[in-house]
Amino acid sequence: MKALVRPARGLKGRISVPGDKSISHRSVMLGALGDGDTKVRGFLPGGDPLATVSAVRGIGIEVEQASQTELVVHGKGLHGLSEPEDVLNCVNSGTTARLMAGILAGQDFFSVLTGSPQLRRRPMGRIADPLRRMGADIDGRGRSGYLPLSIRGGHLRAIEYDQPVASAQVKSAILLAGLFADGETIVRQPGPSRDHTERMLKAMGVDVRTEGLVVRLSPPQGKLAPLEMTIPGDASSAAFPLVAAILVPGSEVVIENVGVNPTRTGLLDVLKAMGASFRLDGERESGGEPVADLAVEHSEMCAGFVSGDTVVRMIDEFPILAVAATQAIGTTEVRDAQELRVKETDRIAAVAEELGKMGAEIEELPDGFKVHGPSELHGAVVDSRGDHRLAMALTVAGLIASGETTVLGADCASDSFPGFFETLRALGADVELV
Ligand code: S3P
Repeated sequence: MKALVRPARGLKGRISVPGDKSISHRSVMLGALGDGDTKVRGFLPGGDPLATVSAVRGIGIEVEQASQTELVVHGKGLHGLSEPEDVLNCVNSGTTARLMAGILAGQDFFSVLTGSPQLRRRPMGRIADPLRRMGADIDGRGRSGYLPLSIRGGHLRAIEYDQPVASAQVKSAILLAGLFADGETIVRQPGPSRDHTERMLKAMGVDVRTEGLVVRLSPPQGKLAPLEMTIPGDASSAAFPLVAAILVPGSEVVIENVGVNPTRTGLLDVLKAMGASFRLDGERESGGEPVADLAVEHSEMCAGFVSGDTVVRMIDEFPILAVAATQAIGTTEVRDAQELRVKETDRIAAVAEELGKMGAEIEELPDGFKVHGPSELHGAVVDSRGDHRLAMALTVAGLIASGETTVLGADCASDSFPGFFETLRALGADVELV
């Protein structure tokens, strides 16, 4: 399906965004390992977390969906999973594939993970290598570099692992395998990747300790306590209406109940430094995560510079940052972000080429990009390339472009943000999915 987007005049209103994608995945996977029923509210019913529900069902766990956003995961404990009868299809979801691999590495049975053509192009050696070092028997396409991967695990050794790249998916895979290892697992991170796995495992009673960038996990002696949790709104989804309101003159928007875990708020820091006007109201805790309401209004911005740890803290926000930077005065530069090349698409090339069709001046760098702003965007036919975040970033660009913008393949927005187009319409935007 394609989105037809026309220039917006002043976005106004109070909205909320769907539940956090990373936490939704983990609620189901960790719930499966808990001893009893994990009750989840605010679950994200998007394509990616639903792939996790189906994978977890495949290893013998009953997941009841009381409504779109309410789940009960009937956990069977650390040793209650069973051999799947068929391959486990992770569809487009890298988090499903990589975290499930960590759990499956701890199981003394045979399983196969696969996914869509898009996911089968994404690197899996980064989890296969450490899990193999822990003793799991893993094989796969391209010497286990790519899905499909076959896994036969059990009897794992604890390892100390220095991560070559900052990745919460890899860290989580090793920690989840560490639940089944014979001693303390230690992961050293090169940067502060999201810590939802550590927070949730701790809430379930697991001994996980973080000191700076080092995480240590001791395998549990007893059972894992099931959780009752309310998942906050996804900061990465909130980024789209947030930037839309900053860019469209006359806008005033409140986004309620957004997760503001410091490992996820790099974009807020960067936009603030560029001069964007927003504030966090009513900061509070919900389900072990910090949450706030984001009140934002239209603002003029200057160029920004992003590198190092901030890149890790906003790894999914670069397509929308690039859109914001097209309207900032000066050259915005992003460095140390080579990981963007192995996301749902090569996001450096895709952002430069697709926004370029609308008149943006974006220079590709091996590890990032430069956006020369401000530029007047014009409507064009652009392509999401099957990447949900590109689809949403291009739609926001369409709101500030002259004429009509057509975003091809826009329906993939529902991988992480079902209701994205309706949410923009509720703020007064002229967008339709046809
Ligand atoms: C995620 C971690 C990030 C992020 C992805 C979700 C997670 O990937 O891009 O959307 O839930 O752990 P990496 O950890 O591989 O950078």
